[in-house]
Amino acid sequence: MWSSSVQTGTELSIAGVTAKNLAKEFGTPAFIVDEVDFYERATAWNKALKESFGTNAGTVYYAAKAFICTEVARWINDVGIGIDVCTGGELAVALAGGIDPAKIELHGNNKSMAEIEKAVISGVGTIVIDSLYEVERVAAAATKANKVQKVLLRLTPGIEAHTHESIATAHEDVKFGFSIASGAAWDAIAAVRGHSSLELRGFHAHIGSQIFGYESFELSAQRLIGLLARYRDEFKSELPELDLGGGYGIAYLPDDVAVVPADAMKALSVAVTTNCQTHGLKIPTISIEPGRAIVGPTMLTLYEVGTVKDVTLESGLHRRYISVDGGMSDNIRPSLYDAEYTTVLANRTSTAKNVSSRLVGKHCETGDIVIREIDLPDDIVPGDLLAVPATGAYGRSMASNYNHVPRPPVISVKDGKARVIVRRETEDDLRMLDI
Ligand code: LLP
Repeated sequence: MWSSSVQTGTELSIAGVTAKNLAKEFGTPAFIVDEVDFYERATAWNKALKESFGTNAGTVYYAAKAFICTEVARWINDVGIGIDVCTGGELAVALAGGIDPAKIELHGNNKSMAEIEKAVISGVGTIVIDSLYEVERVAAAATKANKVQKVLLRLTPGIEAHTHESIATAHEDVKFGFSIASGAAWDAIAAVRGHSSLELRGFHAHIGSQIFGYESFELSAQRLIGLLARYRDEFKSELPELDLGGGYGIAYLPDDVAVVPADAMKALSVAVTTNCQTHGLKIPTISIEPGRAIVGPTMLTLYEVGTVKDVTLESGLHRRYISVDGGMSDNIRPSLYDAEYTTVLANRTSTAKNVSSRLVGKHCETGDIVIREIDLPDDIVPGDLLAVPATGAYGRSMASNYNHVPRPPVISVKDGKARVIVRRETEDDLRMLDI
């Protein structure tokens, strides 16, 4: 839940810097990222993939959508893994961070022609094709650039992953990819094979996000390998790659148990090996795309309390509303997915009794809730700091300017030092686009 260098219990600190000092120097709300923890998590996934798949290990593509900025792209480059981008904007940041284009993979169900051309010209290693239109568009861009573009086909293996409906992606009724069951995948294979400017390397599937247990991943591998076998039977050659996506679950609450990279990769490797043996196939190169599992736990959000209000409910019960200086503009996940978070008092300790409280933001909306119900010390007052762990994934990256609230900065901490890697937005920034 917390990144490895966070100390709680007394005054909260991260990598040796206290919450109080961070708030004083950089203001609140702020996303605080533990740089060493980020490296460790990215390295752990890379190591797990390599140890479980050996010579068949492909690439760990960090899913940029979880969080990206130029400095984090540099970190990805330092760790030596690849990156999955799904828009021209994410591609631009990856390139600005110095990532080798060969280690970039482009996703998206509706990439523009400009995005596709930029990717092809930049030398992006793999483009994951999502529709028949895109087969033609990528082929045209590659022909125009006089290149042969490596591609994967995004497939929907028809799996109901156990997660929130909005973040499940591999059942049949979904906008992504080509269905295996309906035969759409087979049509896409034929279409790609019709273009000499495209090199079909294999298949991709991403079954959803915040998934625990390995069964859905194993089933996805099984279905993709089934199609590899059909391909081999039909065309007498084997496709060399599978990308099995991201989606590995992390801990948001004290009792949550995060997926362990080594265990997840071991389970996947058993599933891949067994299914390849069944079909008499060579084991393909296996790549994965964790986003949340790398960046999620590395960040916390630091808020300052602005008001504390007790409300008496019809039932006679009281509810305490603690308002902080951010909310749904820096964390939309509770509103969108009923996502649950926890928080602790970060600037001091308290021995006061706990009171059932609701942590809310500053937006003009009743649903602007960070934590629906949590026990917090009775003596919390305006000016106190609260830290919410595990906000690194889809927090800052899905932040908005709702109510014209400037988006928070991202502060990196390492070895007792803190520095800004994304600055705080200003009101001038907000007006910059107005004519
Ligand atoms: N690969 C593909 C093709 C994806 O679509 C995604 C996430 C990932 C990898 C990374 O998944 P991860 O390892 O981070 O779970 N906004 C939602 C999550 C949406 C995920 C979209 N795709 C949330 O806040 O939970």
